[in-house]
Amino acid sequence: MGKFGPASKWLKDQREVIKLETTDLSGRVVLVIGANVGLGLEASRHFASMNPERLIMACRNTTKGEAAIKDVQSTTGYAQIDLLHIDLTDSASISKFIEELSSKGVTRIDTTLINAGMMTPKFELTVDGWETTLQTNHIGTALVALLLLPFHLATKHEDPFPRIAFVGSEVHYFVSKVEETKQPNILEALNDKKLARMPERYYITKTLNLFFARSLASRVQPGSLSVTAINPGFCKSQLIRNEGVIKMAGLKLATALLSRPTEMGSRCLVHGAVIASDEVVHGKYLNNCRVEEESDFVISEEGGRVQERVWKETIELLAKINPQITGIVDKYLNQPNGNGKNPI
Ligand SMILES: NC(=O)c1ccc[n+]([C@@H]2O[C@H](COP(=O)([O-])OP(=O)(O)OC[C@H]3O[C@@H](n4cnc5c(N)ncnc54)[C@H](OP(=O)(O)O)[C@@H]3O)[C@@H](O)[C@H]2O)c1
Repeated sequence: MGKFGPASKWLKDQREVIKLETTDLSGRVVLVIGANVGLGLEASRHFASMNPERLIMACRNTTKGEAAIKDVQSTTGYAQIDLLHIDLTDSASISKFIEELSSKGVTRIDTTLINAGMMTPKFELTVDGWETTLQTNHIGTALVALLLLPFHLATKHEDPFPRIAFVGSEVHYFVSKVEETKQPNILEALNDKKLARMPERYYITKTLNLFFARSLASRVQPGSLSVTAINPGFCKSQLIRNEGVIKMAGLKLATALLSRPTEMGSRCLVHGAVIASDEVVHGKYLNNCRVEEESDFVISEEGGRVQERVWKETIELLAKINPQITGIVDKYLNQPNGNGKNPI
């Protein structure tokens, strides 16, 4: 099903009770980016109760991060938690985060859940000069994912393979084309205030998330790393915090009537990040712990072309931002299997 509907399926999915995973994560190092609140906090709590060797909670606000760690420790009794600072809207902060991982003695990571994300109706630039949603949900997400590849590929676990899990969203089904493809550079066009359609921005960046996950999955050495994109469903969280009064009121009503508890959505993230079989999920989009077809646009020929353009533009941009990117891409990634289509 490359479409969002029908509504009855969506409602059924929303009400489904997701199985709580309790697998033992002994010997595994787990990183959650965007861990202080919402889905990231609840996923961190589940990971902590699964007894990993080490849990790293990466947050952009260390005061909130410290409170989140205390909360997870007090509710699970698990103590091996490190707090690291990261701000996806600041590429210098991402480089520092990677350095800090090494200085804390982290040499390998088994699972990364890139959960941090945001939406806003306002077009505002980050310190790096990118529109905030675009940098948080796509550019910063892509940068950290690539810089983490050496940590993942230093892991020797084979069952499951190390995994990078992106938090996608069902809102990608609302995107049937990307207008900015008419411009010479999609990312630069998305960064042009005059062209920006902010009400759609979140949907587009979540589509870029999916494109990036699929592109990355199609380039990693088969059997070395598993890459997936997970939809947690429509959940209560602080995601709507930047919305204006009217949309906020509508979203609050929708949340009250239709959302699932954050903890329930986080079970999908935990399943996709550490439990599901590599062979089944690699390069795929997961909804309610099941592989589902991405939107008709994403899987179309046109979507494939946009996916490749986005990958190329993103790598070119990231290589200018961080000199390590070219070496990482050359060392760890291949040409895509099947022209950027799903690797399996
Ligand atoms: N809630 C839903 O219905 C839903 C549905 C589908 C997908 N998602 C996705 O789920 C993920 C988590 O969202 P949520 O619903 O749990 O929202 P949330 O409660 O607002 O949590 C978002 C998390 O991302 C962090 N974050 C935001 N910008 C960041 C940045 N520049 N650098 C580092 N961290 C940053 C936030 O930190 P601060 O607290 O410091 O801002 C927070 O920890 C997002 O990727 C979202 O797109 C959510």
